[in-house]
Amino acid sequence: MKTSFSLILSLLLYISIESIIQVDAACWEHPNPLKPWEKTLSSECGTQDVPKNPKLTTGIGKGKQFEDDQAAFLAPQDAFQFVFSCGVSDPVLCGKAENTFKSAGLIIANVVNFTTPLRVNATFTNFCQALGECGGKILGAASAARTVPLQDDDNVIRQYPQGLAKQFLLQPPPKWGPFDIQAFFNAEANLFFVGDTQIQPTQFDFQYIILHELIHGLGFASSWNSYFTGGDNTPIALTTDPSFLEMLTDQNQPVTFTGFTETAFDKYMVNAKIKGQSPKRMTDYASSLNNFAQIGTQFQNVQDLLDTFGNSPSFQISSSLIADSQTTKTFAFQPHNAKNTDDLIFLETNLNPFQQGSSISHVDIVTFNNNSDFLEVFNAKRGQTLDQVLAATGGTYPIGPKLLSVLETLGYTTANNPTPYKPRLPNSPKLAVSPPPPLPVANDNKMTQSMSTATPLTSSFNILSVFIIVAVVLLF
Ligand SMILES: *[C@@H]1O[C@H](CO)[C@@H](O)[C@H](O)[C@H]1NC(C)=O
Ligand SMILES: *[C@@H]1O[C@H](CO)[C@@H](O)[C@H](O)[C@H]1NC(C)=O
Ligand SMILES: *[C@@H]1O[C@H](CO)[C@@H](O)[C@H](O)[C@H]1NC(C)=O
Ligand SMILES: [Zn+2]
Repeated sequence: MKTSFSLILSLLLYISIESIIQVDAACWEHPNPLKPWEKTLSSECGTQDVPKNPKLTTGIGKGKQFEDDQAAFLAPQDAFQFVFSCGVSDPVLCGKAENTFKSAGLIIANVVNFTTPLRVNATFTNFCQALGECGGKILGAASAARTVPLQDDDNVIRQYPQGLAKQFLLQPPPKWGPFDIQAFFNAEANLFFVGDTQIQPTQFDFQYIILHELIHGLGFASSWNSYFTGGDNTPIALTTDPSFLEMLTDQNQPVTFTGFTETAFDKYMVNAKIKGQSPKRMTDYASSLNNFAQIGTQFQNVQDLLDTFGNSPSFQISSSLIADSQTTKTFAFQPHNAKNTDDLIFLETNLNPFQQGSSISHVDIVTFNNNSDFLEVFNAKRGQTLDQVLAATGGTYPIGPKLLSVLETLGYTTANNPTPYKPRLPNSPKLAVSPPPPLPVANDNKMTQSMSTATPLTSSFNILSVFIIVAVVLLF
């Protein structure tokens, strides 16, 4: 049966710097976190040329590999390096903003052990004047400044935020860009700074905003997004990154299908919409999406590719996923320490229609708005400092236990996770893999209850009209 609809690209097409050489092994630059989908191919990718280390080749190390050496961790105050540009003329304000970056960086570095400093290009400026982003709805945005492809233990190559990839001390090291995180914060916002006396009901705590955004830059960012819209602009498909479209300069050019690509975060995402069953891994959906054409297939033009995709079973999958993305308690992050479905961390799927920048790459607001893991809900809290929110939710640290387990799962070292998971360089030999065992279903009756009480967010929650924009690594 031939379905007749038109797919309209909702993303901007960018001029590529070079043509892609190796499928899936491109590095991407994300210069503008306000529009993370506007990415460009890195002019340099691959690994650095490092002189052979004689210690590695003599063979007298009794099997001890350089990579296995105990990593030395940085002192917390050395973990973040902020290159700060202040776009406002008030030096006192600039000074307060800069100090807040340092304190937010410390909050992370006090619980995560970093081997390599994180370089943040932080700009504090008037969004309306400097970026043409007026209306004051966006407080800040951050994303990985560059993502690099690494091969996971399921042989899938995923895009890793550079800041995370650096921590693995891979040999030879990938080529790095100058910054790990690109961040913009809006100086027009009514902000409360650490050291100010009392937060006003209309103010936002700047430290809270920075911390939220830095976590995105560290990898709390999915590539699952709405990249295609129907004629009436409604989201019609949820896919991972259609990075094969980035190479194009106009819609009439031939397109080579190189596959939809996932981020590091996506490896751990599951679809838990069917209560009482083990969740399905999102990466399995991602690989089904890629079945619509053979990798390397040439299409005459963008519409030709879209027509083929739109008539494929893969498209049916992406349509059912866009419905799931607008349904409460469907997508979740499965942390490394999950024992059963009770340990899943539900992601933001309450918003209908799908909101680029808010949906998916945040934690479920229904579950987490008043919970010690509140930090990554998508709405900014007005009139409460980070400490006040923490106290109100009964939390003990701004990075809650579940959020810390997300960071650990992605590959960050913590006191409780001394030997994190580590991906390999993209040209590494493939491993023999079998699918991971299904996550046991929690055996209690909370499940049925949570289903019946699920209500659309718009009617049950009072979402502030000010959002922290997503800082998704790739695409928003
Ligand atoms: C790792 O971080 C923990 C805090 O979470 C800290 O107590 C510990 O000293 C750090 N380890 C090293 C080797 O720096
Ligand atoms: C930081 O990012 C801004 C915006 O992309 C850019 O103009 C600036 O050059 C960057 N800063 C440095 C030091 O590279
Ligand atoms: C939020 O949670 C705290 C502690 O868990 C509780 O004391 C408080 O009543 C809750 N507030 C709301 C508005 O639900
Ligand atoms: Zn966010």
